[in-house]
Amino acid sequence: MLRRPARLPPMNYRHHYHAGGAADLLKHLVLVHLVRRLQDKPTPLCYLDTHAGAGSYQLAHEMSQRTGEYARGVARLWGAQGLPGPLADLLRLIEACNPDGALRVYPGSPRVVRALLRPGDRMIACELHMKDVETLHDEFRGDPQVAVHRRDGYEGIKAFLPPKERRGLVLIDPPFERPDEFAAALAGLHTAHARWPTGCLALWYPIKGPVARGKLHAALMHGVIRRVLALELYTRLDDADGLGGSGMIVVNPPWRSDVVLRAALPALAARVADDDLDPAASTRTRVEWIVGE
Ligand SMILES: C[S@@+](CC[C@H](N)C(=O)[O-])C[C@H]1O[C@@H](n2cnc3c(N)ncnc32)[C@H](O)[C@@H]1O
Repeated sequence: MLRRPARLPPMNYRHHYHAGGAADLLKHLVLVHLVRRLQDKPTPLCYLDTHAGAGSYQLAHEMSQRTGEYARGVARLWGAQGLPGPLADLLRLIEACNPDGALRVYPGSPRVVRALLRPGDRMIACELHMKDVETLHDEFRGDPQVAVHRRDGYEGIKAFLPPKERRGLVLIDPPFERPDEFAAALAGLHTAHARWPTGCLALWYPIKGPVARGKLHAALMHGVIRRVLALELYTRLDDADGLGGSGMIVVNPPWRSDVVLRAALPALAARVADDDLDPAASTRTRVEWIVGE
């Protein structure tokens, strides 16, 4: 079952280097908000995580220590009080993974969402890296609400959508190591939307200068998908390319997500953005409709 499927490129990316960094916090804050709002209705939901990673990450691990991304990310939130709704919600969830009060573990997207699932909800996690799939299997072994697949996430979109629940969320969170990953992720988003036009679909992307991000937005702006919200968090100045950070595209966000997340992001930016970035919240965060109704 855990053999490498044929025709796959080598899997070098390890999320341990980035776990708990600012980009994860943006992604997981949005994820927590979306799941909670989808659960405002009692009908069961299905969550598809196309690029699931390892499930959770030990921050003492040599890979996390080497980049120190978590030290400039989740460590700066640790113990914070008075955070806005979804950010406080995420921090409580991270605290629950660290019951003795010391920050040691950072939950990945499957662990974040699993903590929120109600008894009737379910999760499908696709991951390709052999070690991460093994960790995911260990983490969710015997859990009847979680199915782990060693499978290409873009294939998973075709295989698992639409879910029988007809309600829920897809997260597309590739490593962006392939030069064509923006195009692949956009194609994945279109496939997901074609198969499930009413599903809530989220895509995370890195911002390394304005070019790739601009092309993604332009493609969506001139595309067929309606109700497309973009959320961005800028955390650093990239020497040659301008501002750096990460963003999320959310198709069919629950009602008032723009308002709630616009209010929450500045509190995150204030803690995780580099000091040399313009302190004005308006330049560190953006929440805007790329395409309306
Ligand atoms: C950014 S990480 C995922 C992090 C995770 N979603 C989280 O938020 O905690 C991307 C993951 O995708 C995996 N991956 C790369 N290409 C893939 C593919 N085509 N299908 C499924 N997983 C893939 C990598 O091994 C890596 O674990």
